[in-house]
Amino acid sequence: MTFFSYKDGEMHAEGVALGAIADKVGTPFYCYSAGALRAAWQEFADGIKGFDADICYAMKANSSLAVIRLFGELGAGADIVSVGEMRRALAAGIPAGRIVYSGVGKKASELMAALEAGVGQINVESSAELETLNAVAGQLGVRADITIRVNPDVDAETHAKITTGRKENKFGIDIDLAREAFRLAGGLPNLRVVGVAMHIGSQLTSLEPYRAAIVRVRELIGQLREDGHRIERFDIGGGLGIVYAAEKPPAVGDFVALVGRETAGLGCKLTFEPGRRLVGEAGVLVSEVILVKPGAAKTFVIVDAAMNDLIRPTLYEAWHDIVPVRERPGAATIRCDIVGPICESGDFLAQDRDLPPLAAGDLVMVRSAGAYGAVMASSYNSRPLVPEVMVDGTRFAVTRPRPTIDEMLAAERFPPWVEPPGTE
Ligand code: LLP
Repeated sequence: MTFFSYKDGEMHAEGVALGAIADKVGTPFYCYSAGALRAAWQEFADGIKGFDADICYAMKANSSLAVIRLFGELGAGADIVSVGEMRRALAAGIPAGRIVYSGVGKKASELMAALEAGVGQINVESSAELETLNAVAGQLGVRADITIRVNPDVDAETHAKITTGRKENKFGIDIDLAREAFRLAGGLPNLRVVGVAMHIGSQLTSLEPYRAAIVRVRELIGQLREDGHRIERFDIGGGLGIVYAAEKPPAVGDFVALVGRETAGLGCKLTFEPGRRLVGEAGVLVSEVILVKPGAAKTFVIVDAAMNDLIRPTLYEAWHDIVPVRERPGAATIRCDIVGPICESGDFLAQDRDLPPLAAGDLVMVRSAGAYGAVMASSYNSRPLVPEVMVDGTRFAVTRPRPTIDEMLAAERFPPWVEPPGTE
């Protein structure tokens, strides 16, 4: 089922014309389809039927309260990496006990806040963190349920900036040093070791790296049990890829089935931490063409969304499909760069694309922008943070309004020793 499609020549999100949203909200804006989010969730829910497994939505991919709430209502837990994300998960109604706290550098104050809130599981990534967490838990008089995240040293075959399971990446504890870390954890009175966690990378389009990593972790689990640890949970992490261009990512059902096969007989409860796969294809970025500048080498289509709104193209050389909101069947195409108005050559959404000729005022839609889009946006060049809209059937609502420039300025202060302007 496609949730973004042309109807009567105009791109719609479900039953709502994107142009109608643009008229109301202005551009640029992110638009999420509730139907697409539910459908993506359902694939996971169907996949894990019959398994002892939990799905903790990796909300770093899209931490809109509306999105978290939608998944929460469907039964999701949350995978968080900061106290800010924890507060969002709680505000969206995710029970604290269904929150998993990951991250390579958690501060004592953050661990304290997590334990005070009753977060269900902390995935520890270093011996130093074990000691800190033990001390914090002792101060609070609680025992923290932890897994240790191991780094299985496999190649996730993805972009270098989003691969996490190689020895040279900062994440997890080297699998060869893991027994030692578990021994340390087992001796700390305020920690209860409940399992092992891994996460090998993001936008994986092959199952082989998962298989290789699970084989390695499975062997480790055997050794840990020989060492006397109770390993009840295996957190697989996230990482399953989506379609941006012509990728053929595995079906969720095949992914879960592979995990099920490779962990069969282990007697561990599984945790899945999908982010991108749940939200990526369910969101688009809509932007208006400001002007078109024909150049000697190519044509520049300057739009009102920029690298501060969607940084993936320039940061990861990511390819996002871009289509005109008004359908142009059979139109001849021209080669162009779709760029933003920011003063940097790296400010582009697409390069060397063949698109029907565009003119000032036309709307374009950037596909597969629901994951790592709005969450990575900034207000660089004093551009207001891009708003977010959710569509559900024929309804739509602004779930995060665009801040006004006045609101942005009001958040700042002059130092007290500086005379504010206009007071002389
Ligand atoms: N669990 C852990 C511990 C993670 O570090 C991540 C993502 C996930 C789960 C979710 O992974 P996913 O299912 O979304 O692939 N900004 C980059 C992606 C960074 C991913 C970081 N970790 C991008 O735009 O491609």
